[in-house]
Amino acid sequence: MNTCDNQTPLAGKRILLGVTGGIAAYKSAELCRLLIQAGAELRVAMTDAALEFIRPLTFQALTGQPVASSLFQGEAGNAMEHIELARWAELILVAPATADFIARLVEGQGDNLLLATILASKAPLALAPAMNQQMWAAASTRDNLQRLRHRDVLIWGPEAGEQACGDQGLGRLREPSDLLEDVIDFFAPGPLEGRRVLITAGPTREAIDPVRFLSNRSSGKMGYALAQAAWRAGAEVLLVSGPTCLERPDGVERIDVISAEEMRRAVLEQLPGQDIFIACAAVADYRPRQPARDKIKKQSERLTLELERTPDILAEVAARPNRPFCVGFAAETQELEHYARDKLAGKKLDMIAANRVDGDDGAFEGDDNELAVFWDDGAIELPRQPKTRIARELIAIIADQFSRRRP
Ligand code: PMT
Repeated sequence: MNTCDNQTPLAGKRILLGVTGGIAAYKSAELCRLLIQAGAELRVAMTDAALEFIRPLTFQALTGQPVASSLFQGEAGNAMEHIELARWAELILVAPATADFIARLVEGQGDNLLLATILASKAPLALAPAMNQQMWAAASTRDNLQRLRHRDVLIWGPEAGEQACGDQGLGRLREPSDLLEDVIDFFAPGPLEGRRVLITAGPTREAIDPVRFLSNRSSGKMGYALAQAAWRAGAEVLLVSGPTCLERPDGVERIDVISAEEMRRAVLEQLPGQDIFIACAAVADYRPRQPARDKIKKQSERLTLELERTPDILAEVAARPNRPFCVGFAAETQELEHYARDKLAGKKLDMIAANRVDGDDGAFEGDDNELAVFWDDGAIELPRQPKTRIARELIAIIADQFSRRRP
C-alpha cells in the first residue's frame, strides 16, 4: 500500500491542503513545501477569507498547480472542480482551520469550494485548528470539535504558546514540521498490513414462513466499524453481513447473507488463508425447525413454533486445524465477565469482546458502545465511545495480541 522510503515517505500520496482565513495561514506555505519535499502530490484549496491573508500565487509557485478557490471559476470550467478534487484526494488536510470554518463544517454547509469539496469527498479529513485561545475554549467550539471527532475527523493540534493577538494559551497552529509527521504517521503501514481479516456483522433472519422471520436488534454498526478499522490498519478485509441498512465500508469486500446457515457456508468457504476471524454478528441461536412453505394463516388463537439450534459458526471455525486467530463477541445482560470467559474457554477462542445488551444504552443499534475485552492472561476495558472509535481501539488490541502469538 505504501511506497515508503526515508527521503520521500509520502511519495505519490495525493493530498489536498485546505487553507482558511486565519493569521496562521502564512505557515501553510511552509507546510506545503515540506509535504512536497516528502514526495506528496499536493493541491491547494483556499477560502475567500484565506485569500485576505496569503496570495494563491505562493501556493501555485510551490505546487506548480493552480489553486482552487472559487466554486464557479475553476480550471475544469464547468463548476465541477470540487467534485474532481474530492475524488482525487487521498487525504484532505485543512491547516489552519478557523473556528468559523469548523462551525460551518459541522453544519454541513457547502457554500465555498473547500466545504463543498469536503462534503463531496470520501477521503479522510484532518483539521489543524488555529484560533485565539478564548475562541478555542468557547463552549460552541468544544461542542463542534466533539461532533467532528464522532464523525471520525482527525484533529491535529492546536498547541499552547504566545498568539498573534498577544494572548497566551491553546490555539496556535501546530508547527508545520509536526503536521508533516502527523501526515507521515497517517500514511504509515498499519499493524495489519498484509493480513487477511474475515468479519461477520449484523443479524441473521430465520424464516418462519415466506413472509415472516425470527431475528434480533443488531444493526451491523459494530461489525461494519470493525471492518473499516481493520482496513485502515492495512488488512484485506472480507465482511460477511446479515441484512442491514448500512453501506459497504470503503475498501472492504462484502458478502451478503440472510440466515445463520448461509452465514456459516459463506464463512467456511472464505476461511482458507484468513489470518484473523472476528465474529461480531448476532447470529440467531434458534430457528424454526420447519419453516412453512406458504404464509401461515390466522386460524387459531395460539400458534406453537418448534425451534432447533443453529450451527455455532464461531465454535466451528475455532475447532478447525490451522484456524485463524479467533475473536468472539459476547452479548450479555448480566455477569459480563463470567459469561464472556465461559465463551472464551468453551469455544476455545483467542479473545472475546463482551458488551452489555440491556437498557437504553446497550450495544444494539446505537452509535456508541463500551467493551470489556478478555484473553487467556489479560483483560482491558474500553470505555463508552462511538463504535467507529472503539472499533479502532479493539483492532489495535487484536493486532497486538495476534502479533505476539503468531509473529
Ligand atoms: O450490530 P450492532 O447494532 O452494532 O450491535 C452490536 C452487537 C451487540 C450485535 C455486537 O457488539 C455483539 O455483541 N455481537 C455478538 C452478538 C451475539 O450473538 O453474542 P452471543 O453471546 O450470543 O454469541 C457469542 C459469539 O458466538 C458471537 O461472537 C457470535 O457471533 C457467535 N455465534 C453465536 C451463535 C451462532 N450460532 N454462531 C456464532 O458464531
